[in-house]
Amino acid sequence: MDPAQASTLRLTCAHGQHEMLAAEVGQLDRTVLASDRTGVELRGDLLEAMRLNLLSRVAMRVLYLLDSFPCNHPDQLERGAGKIPWETIIPCSGYLSVTSTIKNPSIDNTMFANLRLKDAIVDRIRKVHGRRPDSGPLRNGVVVHLHWHGDTAQIWIDTSGDKLSDRGYRKMPHQAPLRETLAAAILMRAGYCGEAPLVIPMCGSGTLAIEAALIATSRPPGLLRNRFGFQHLLGYDRADYESIRRELTPRRARRASAPNPVIIANDIDPAAIEATQKNAETAGVAHLIKTSVCDFADTPLPDDPGIVILHPEYGLRLGEEADLRETYSRMGDFFKQRCGGWSGWIFTGNLELAKVVGLRTSCRVPFKHASIDARLLGYELWKGSREQTASDT
Ligand SMILES: C[S@@+](CC[C@H](N)C(=O)[O-])C[C@H]1O[C@@H](n2cnc3c(N)ncnc32)[C@H](O)[C@@H]1O
Repeated sequence: MDPAQASTLRLTCAHGQHEMLAAEVGQLDRTVLASDRTGVELRGDLLEAMRLNLLSRVAMRVLYLLDSFPCNHPDQLERGAGKIPWETIIPCSGYLSVTSTIKNPSIDNTMFANLRLKDAIVDRIRKVHGRRPDSGPLRNGVVVHLHWHGDTAQIWIDTSGDKLSDRGYRKMPHQAPLRETLAAAILMRAGYCGEAPLVIPMCGSGTLAIEAALIATSRPPGLLRNRFGFQHLLGYDRADYESIRRELTPRRARRASAPNPVIIANDIDPAAIEATQKNAETAGVAHLIKTSVCDFADTPLPDDPGIVILHPEYGLRLGEEADLRETYSRMGDFFKQRCGGWSGWIFTGNLELAKVVGLRTSCRVPFKHASIDARLLGYELWKGSREQTASDT
């Protein structure tokens, strides 16, 4: 497979994060050609796909389009897929898995379509080489993705393999951790770019603080891992990959002379702080995060105002919500009494409890956290006498 062959690249993201993803792609000096709620598309070759796997903080996967054809029946799928020169893409000694999203009336079981596609691929390779790659559900070889909506089938290579949110640093998850890509999207939406102080008073396993440290030092998150789907393709050249990693690494060095960012992470639970420290060490950013065990209301705040982000529990299990009412009400007091001049944010999946905060929101950004309908609530916290108005949340 020619790594310099340009095609459509699709960066996928969690539902609702496409605006942040499009903004990120723009900041990376790339042009978004199309976008929808699950991703953005641009033009590029496999080398560009490698770069985007390393660079993007918000994307979940980077897909490379192999072919697209009219398709209304599994037989058409098998015929169309059989025309793709798989023998130049997948090694006959390799491993293959097929994933799909399908909305076509001829298919009521996606596994059946996946099987037909897999058969087309391995039959073609066997005809050329006399042997075929193994196949199965694991994502540790070449991953082929079928997107078949309506009467068009698109066949993509999933160049990421494992989700890009699996950065590899979270060895201790603690409780209800944010996905790394979601944490990065929250920070971007809150306007964090590494310059203003950042305070995370309910840090849990430290995801927001660690993603912030990566942003502040311009470290591409993909440099933290060394396993991607594109490494299993025929035509993959390790030297290209190493040279792209080197090309992206100086971003970190350029900022090394700048003063360290101020990132403060607290939690009331000592086990959370232990997790934050271990995870930050794994990510190589422990020296950039100041941690302490304390109630959020006692968080040490630097003199210069910045951004404060609270990510409390949601209390969605029976009986938990009542216990959390006091916490949410105290969060409002904390913002009013201690955070004048700061940009305040609360990320929660409980919109009823959010009302208890008792402050007017300046913005409410919808997100999904796992399958939960969540919001990032923004608060403008005025310094001095200007009164915080009562809630309309
Ligand atoms: C939903 S978790 C945060 C998860 C985190 N964002 C992550 O990605 O791992 C909420 C955290 O708030 C902490 N917490 C609860 N009440 C607190 C309080 N009064 N003061 C400080 N932290 C508190 C919990 O110990 C828990 O770690």
